[in-house]
Amino acid sequence: MCGIAGYIGKQQAAPIILDGLAKLEYRGYDSAGVAVFDGEKIHMEKAMGRLRVLDEMTHHGASMPGFCGVGHTRWATHGCPSDTNAHPHMNEENTIAVVHNGIIENYGKLKQRLEKKGYHFASETDTEVLAHMLTEYYHGDPVDAIEKVMHRVEGSYALGIMFLDHPHHIYAARKDSPLIVGVSDDGKFIASDVPAILHYTRNVYYMENEEIACLSNEHTRFFNIDGESIEKQPVTIDWDIHAAEKGGYEHFMLKEIHEQPKAVRDTISPRISNNDIDLGELGLSEEEIRNLKHISIVACGSAYHTGVTGKYVLESLARIPTETDLASEFRYRNPIYTPDSLVIIVSQSGETADSLAALRDAKKHKSKVLAIVNVVGSSIAREADSVLYTWAGPEISVATTKAYSCQLAVFYMLAMKFARIRGTISPEQFAKLLDALKLLPDQIETLLSQKEKIQFFANHYLATEHIFFMGRGIDYAISLEGSLKLKEISYIHSEAYAAGELKHGTISLMEEGTLVVAIATQDILYPKTVSNIVEVKTRGAFVMALTTLKHKDMENCADYVLYVPETENPFMGSLAIIPLQLFSYYVSLGRGLDVDKPRNLAKSVTVE
Ligand code: M6R
Repeated sequence: MCGIAGYIGKQQAAPIILDGLAKLEYRGYDSAGVAVFDGEKIHMEKAMGRLRVLDEMTHHGASMPGFCGVGHTRWATHGCPSDTNAHPHMNEENTIAVVHNGIIENYGKLKQRLEKKGYHFASETDTEVLAHMLTEYYHGDPVDAIEKVMHRVEGSYALGIMFLDHPHHIYAARKDSPLIVGVSDDGKFIASDVPAILHYTRNVYYMENEEIACLSNEHTRFFNIDGESIEKQPVTIDWDIHAAEKGGYEHFMLKEIHEQPKAVRDTISPRISNNDIDLGELGLSEEEIRNLKHISIVACGSAYHTGVTGKYVLESLARIPTETDLASEFRYRNPIYTPDSLVIIVSQSGETADSLAALRDAKKHKSKVLAIVNVVGSSIAREADSVLYTWAGPEISVATTKAYSCQLAVFYMLAMKFARIRGTISPEQFAKLLDALKLLPDQIETLLSQKEKIQFFANHYLATEHIFFMGRGIDYAISLEGSLKLKEISYIHSEAYAAGELKHGTISLMEEGTLVVAIATQDILYPKTVSNIVEVKTRGAFVMALTTLKHKDMENCADYVLYVPETENPFMGSLAIIPLQLFSYYVSLGRGLDVDKPRNLAKSVTVE
């Protein structure tokens, strides 16, 4: 969701900025722009559409001379995607250029006030108010002007700013939208995310809320919102540079699907020792775990779906009442926080606006917050009381796969640990679960080797208009994710139902040939789901079922059966999701769509 890249240094800025923006393409965008100080003026180029349009227009930046600049990929919020609404936005004198990620919530009021004062607006964006406000408050000191603007705007922002008066400087500021500063011997960088600068440096400062940065060849300075100088420590990013590249795969999504055995292994292995699970990072004593009365899992999208599985697993193994909420609902429903409760925020990016707001609400009410996060140093990771990282590595495809699988693995470990400490499972059960957990990465590998079978099936459904997913218990949680995966990258309408709910309305949609994907991996629920399969088949549905080999009888009722290896029932989701991810991928591929960057979507949803 909007990407920012900026550079000041010894190299030509525009090509570096365009490279950085290309690394941020996964965030989702509809237009792009760059502004560079060319020795005389701020030279700006903007173009609607893919970054390659801007890249071609500027001959990959070569036609934009200069050593200092800022660039942006825009995901439209205020004003449709267009050249004019693309960032950067400049003031009327073309002396200040701004790129912005986030939303200025009080922009309407601010715009009215500025218009009364005679400022003219060229775009429909909320961002343009910033360019005019900076003009209003600028009297020679950029930090002073930025600080004044920050005191007056409401909402979220990550900003990259240039002042013609200070041509060899980039200014940056943030509140509730991610922004990092990178430093190398060759120059200084600003970016929305690490992949944008990983080719140039691993030394990074994470900007905190309401901080301002001023970068020049000589200095890297930071200020608080009152303009006071502050000290910050850089961190070293240890990501493998190739992890953020396609490595021979046609798409990031396919690559990331194949990385799941490693990602899940990397998430589990360091936490298993002496036949026990070591979650030292948890920050909860055994007594606190024994006293836990309630857990709220809060997240968005696929992370929410892992939370739905998390609820089943935590309740069945650790016997702790657990609720799973969508962060966008949780944050506004005035939730009840009780003593001895734990709030778990789940997020791949660690920057999702609603999840971050839910975290802050929980902390405001003195609730203990545990985060399950993939991006090290992200806002959610930094603000939670404790963090269990998913070691999936950078995930670039908008449709999450490997981070999702790692989140499931973390929930299994959490539930097992809690269950062992609370004595709700026997040592023998614990040992059995642990053995099954360790086997999961190899079993995922086995499933991946059957991808041709899934591609064959997917190719028969490229033109279908509706697909239904159904299951019970954990199979329902997996149906939710299978359905989201399919719709987000194939644009086929799909819905997921708890199989028992079909009769309460949805079954009226069944007609000759409707595709139903039925997931039936849970032993005690198996006969119930089989009955639901029979019900939809009687109404003409074509059923593709996912089950385990011991349920060969499924072939008597479903039209097409895919088998997953046996594991303990609570872990079935980790295996059942693999064919569904591959199914979505191949349907999207077959329909000729942009698998990694589906329309209208952003990888990291940093606005409400
Ligand atoms: O970064 P987060 O895990 O907080 O993101 C949450 C959702 O936006 C994300 O899972 C989204 O639903 C994905 N596109 C699903 O593939």
